[in-house]
Amino acid sequence: MKHTKYHAENMLQKKAKRWLITGVAGFIGSNLLEHLLRHDQAVVGLDNFSTGHQRNLEDVKSLVSEKQWARFSLITGDIRDLDACKTACGGVDIVLHHAALGSVPRSLADPILTNQSNIDGFLNMLVAARDAEVCRFVYAASSSTYGDHPGLPKKEDIIGKPLSPYAVTKYVNELYAEVFARQYNMECIGLRYFNVFGPRQDPLGAYAAVIPRWINELTRGETPVINGDGETSRDFCYVENVIQANILAAIAKKKVALNQVYNVAVGERTTLNELFKLIRNLLGEYDEKVKIIEPRYAPFRSGDVRHSQADISLAKELLGFNPSYTVQRGMQETVDWFVKQMSNAGVEQNKG
Ligand SMILES: NC(=O)c1ccc[n+]([C@@H]2O[C@H](COP(=O)([O-])OP(=O)(O)OC[C@H]3O[C@@H](n4cnc5c(N)ncnc54)[C@H](O)[C@@H]3O)[C@@H](O)[C@H]2O)c1
Repeated sequence: MKHTKYHAENMLQKKAKRWLITGVAGFIGSNLLEHLLRHDQAVVGLDNFSTGHQRNLEDVKSLVSEKQWARFSLITGDIRDLDACKTACGGVDIVLHHAALGSVPRSLADPILTNQSNIDGFLNMLVAARDAEVCRFVYAASSSTYGDHPGLPKKEDIIGKPLSPYAVTKYVNELYAEVFARQYNMECIGLRYFNVFGPRQDPLGAYAAVIPRWINELTRGETPVINGDGETSRDFCYVENVIQANILAAIAKKKVALNQVYNVAVGERTTLNELFKLIRNLLGEYDEKVKIIEPRYAPFRSGDVRHSQADISLAKELLGFNPSYTVQRGMQETVDWFVKQMSNAGVEQNKG
């Protein structure tokens, strides 16, 4: 992955800190890990590997130096276990809390499990971070919190009613973080992500996100399914922009920037039909046959919002957030990464 320098990166180089990334074996967590290790930071990771993978950590290992990798230690554990959270928080300066069960459909299928990880687990992490006197608690919130509010673009303080158990859990996270900031003097920042994509996002399983799933299907000559008429739109955000937001939130000094929740996105809208064409064109550069694949349309999914687009002015103003990757540029990197992974996997299979 290419790296664009921004002021927070220079700050990172001044003084190494000790970070805890929960959900480190997942998509966003492993990208955060890669970034921090590349910048010579010390990182503790906590993950129960329920949706994350050892292969994500192996990939990061292959991309950093031996010395950088030696600064990483992994705790295999569950955020539903308070002791595991306490052990993980020991001696940590900054928490980037990303462990959770994602996916709206998963939460509709099993609301209790989603609640346990996303609310009980979140509360455990807050208590553990408070007791360890962690300096900053940055956590993954979600655009699903906007629920049924039709207004566009989404502004942080105008939300509707939640449309899924997942959305409830992510909103409860914000409420707890606010209470802990107020009552225990903690510094918490929530980042409401809008449809993040990039390398290492899981393409497989019933709850896979649309971008890696389509890339995987198109590469295999299969027909991707579009839920609805394809005019549903999202503010797709490349993972590098998310990393930037995390670092900025972690080092923010201005008081007014703390104990806030910020939209993290590009501030644009892409329909599923446009997204499909973009991915097909990029993959078509590798394989002509992909260019003629058409999607199949299926009924709308329940719990999904029709349109989503962020107003990112608050993060711009208070954190200095400046997303450097457009959807097009991020998608090029994502497609290149998946194609490379698949061809490496093919080589390994042939060797075997
Ligand atoms: N990807 C997105 O578009 C998006 C959008 C909004 C919010 N988020 C949030 O960002 C965070 C990271 O998402 P992601 O896309 O990287 O998902 P992911 O599933 O790839 O990563 C989540 C990680 O958390 C771990 N985990 C789950 N439950 C756990 C538990 N009880 N104890 C310990 N580890 C546990 C999983 O094994 C996995 O490695 C999540 O909090 C998610 O809700 C993601």
